Amino acid sequence: MSEPARRLLAQLARGLAAEEARGRRRHLTPRAGLDLSSNDVLGLAEDPWVAARVAEAVQRHGTGAGAARLLRGNLALFEQAEARLAAACGREAALLFPSGYMASQALLATLLRVGGSWASDRDNHACIVDGLRLGRHAEGRVGRLDDPTDPCWAFPEGAPFPRLAVVESVVSTSGRMPDLASIAACAEEAGAVLLVDEAHATGLWGAASGPAQATPSGRVAALGLTSRVLATMHTGGKALGVAGAWVAGERVLIEHLVQHARPFIFTTAPMPALAAGLLAALERLATLPGAGEEVRAKAGRLRTRLREAGVDCGGDGTHLVPVPMGSEARALEVAGRLQAEGFDVRALRPPTVPVGGSCLRVVVRRVLADEDLERFATRLAHHAHATAAGTA
Ligand SMILES: Cc1ncc(COP(=O)(O)O)c(C=O)c1O
Repeated sequence: MSEPARRLLAQLARGLAAEEARGRRRHLTPRAGLDLSSNDVLGLAEDPWVAARVAEAVQRHGTGAGAARLLRGNLALFEQAEARLAAACGREAALLFPSGYMASQALLATLLRVGGSWASDRDNHACIVDGLRLGRHAEGRVGRLDDPTDPCWAFPEGAPFPRLAVVESVVSTSGRMPDLASIAACAEEAGAVLLVDEAHATGLWGAASGPAQATPSGRVAALGLTSRVLATMHTGGKALGVAGAWVAGERVLIEHLVQHARPFIFTTAPMPALAAGLLAALERLATLPGAGEEVRAKAGRLRTRLREAGVDCGGDGTHLVPVPMGSEARALEVAGRLQAEGFDVRALRPPTVPVGGSCLRVVVRRVLADEDLERFATRLAHHAHATAAGTA
């Protein structure tokens, strides 16, 4: 090994040791225990019918697309899936990406590639933060978008165009549901276009009527706000149980992404079976009307149970039940104890959440039995009280 390589690796090893000492080093562990942490909210990732459709697509189209979409990688299956995904969102067009991270980066960085300005919600996911950072010539502010008085809305006179406002429809860490109608009004007032990340709402909320009703695309459609939102980002790897992501919007916006979005242009197209999996998941969803409401009701019962036991929790109205723990050490301790008892629940800690805001992020899933949730609530309450009092 060369001297520079040895020096670099030694430096990296010192960094890892420092993170370990601060309790900040993450470890990759095999999955085990009752799933109270994955985003496979509807259990579609293990749905045999969806799996069979994916297997069939692998047989038919092979394992890989072999090239980028703008080269030989553009299978008809991708375009078929995009038309279906656009229709599910009540939009003209959609563009598929290998992941939600790439979709957000592509949309934001491409819109801001020659400048612009933005207002970004303070709770936005790293993919939005990073996408905005890629707009090197753009400027913006972070704040609470559903507060019309927040300074982030004060785009200076003559702030460069385009002006973007970006928010998640269900905040991934806290389950907070920003008031999208108020945000749309603020954006209109500020002369900005609104972009909404529906990662944690896709498959779980949807239009109350109309052609997109059977395939819930998210809260924008549920609130009837589609025409006031320029574009939405959706993930296929969470409630749809597959992988990948898409951006949905007007045809001209999607065509602009095809021409200019670097994360679309300079990457091999996803596995063709991904498109088949998303199509199958949408079909399967149509056979599960009310699944989102069902899972939210289940989460509501868990919250009631925890609060009765004196445990604070949040995420009301969603499938997410964050349980504040304060310190990282307590969050890790309680998560560790629950894991040892067979509950796969994970701690969220800095930098994912602010210092002092560590919590357990419980995801309530459709396939969880009420008795299991009851047992879980009892044990969680026990460990939460024990660690708060420092008695066990
Ligand atoms: C709000 C939000 N947007 C985007 C993503 C990224 O999606 P993906 O996992 O498909 O890259 C996530 C993933 O955790 C998310 O929580």
